[in-house]
Amino acid sequence: MIDLQQVRLSLSELEQRFARELSEAKSPQDLEQLRIKCLGRKSLLASSIKTLGAFRAEERAILGKTLNTLKAQIESKLSEAKAKLLEQPALAPVDVTLPGVSPPVGRLHPITQTMAEIIACFAPMGFEVVEGPELELEFYNFDALNIPPDHPSRETFDTVFVEAPSPEPRKGKLLLRSHTSPVQIRVMQARKPPLRILVPGKVFRPDPLDASHSFMFHQVEGLMVDDRTNFADLKGVLATFVGQVFGPSTKMRFRPHFFPFTEPSAEVDIACAGCRGRGCSTCGHKGWLEILGCGMVHPNVFKAVGYDPTKVQGFAFGLGVERIAMLKHGMIDIRLFFENDLRFLEQF
Ligand code: PHE
Repeated sequence: MIDLQQVRLSLSELEQRFARELSEAKSPQDLEQLRIKCLGRKSLLASSIKTLGAFRAEERAILGKTLNTLKAQIESKLSEAKAKLLEQPALAPVDVTLPGVSPPVGRLHPITQTMAEIIACFAPMGFEVVEGPELELEFYNFDALNIPPDHPSRETFDTVFVEAPSPEPRKGKLLLRSHTSPVQIRVMQARKPPLRILVPGKVFRPDPLDASHSFMFHQVEGLMVDDRTNFADLKGVLATFVGQVFGPSTKMRFRPHFFPFTEPSAEVDIACAGCRGRGCSTCGHKGWLEILGCGMVHPNVFKAVGYDPTKVQGFAFGLGVERIAMLKHGMIDIRLFFENDLRFLEQF
């Protein structure tokens, strides 16, 4: 004989255990397991239903009702809990008071930035940006610039030759340009004066890599030609540039120099910002830092492009972009520009 009291007791235990385990359920899977445990074929509830037949009629009525209510209660609590779990958002709600996370933003390389700054100085003075090929012919890189084949000054522009047949053997071998000056020739051959051009670009020299040499670097070439431009114009244009890039009170000097394609020629130095001209390790204790080469276009260069040197005159200059960027930012190693280390690049 089964005791009704006892069945009731174990059912109320079941009810309590269900309530406890329901509060601990964290996922729909937990809920499903709990359902099988409480309502499945092997559950206490199922086996209690099976024993109903053993009870007397009134007892069976009471117990049957208890069992049904309990079963309905468990079912409704389970589905309620399931609905709650499903409607919970997958992520924690957004805390709008937290500081924002901005996505990483790219930027221009410091050399590109410096080039843009240089161009921005000359553009208002009427200089137009022109580009030329990095793969050049001897004629443009040397001959037309008044550097004949056996001239010792060729060694100054030490050159990377390219082992490929020249497309125009009359213009010599193929090479990687060692300066941007060949673009002067290309532009003058294609156009008539007056001309005011600026040529930014890469140049190549077979130098071993160290803190101040790179086999590839950047130059900006300038060329102004008409029937009256003189050395004073060159000085005025370069002084404007130096004032804008290094500050209006920066001292500069023209130091006589030699280039085969300009006459007279000069190198321009600026007073070292580190020591204000007194001499320090940055300027090699000279007090001055060289920033560019320049001069009045040589008559032989005009002849090479078919201009009449008695009718036209003008100046040319070539400046090293890495040099300018290093001086501006107080850098002592050119290699940093080309190592692509984000810790360096992100500072610009
Ligand atoms: N081409 C020279 C160099 O690379 C610079 C230069 C350009 C000098 C134009 C004078 C005139 O050193």
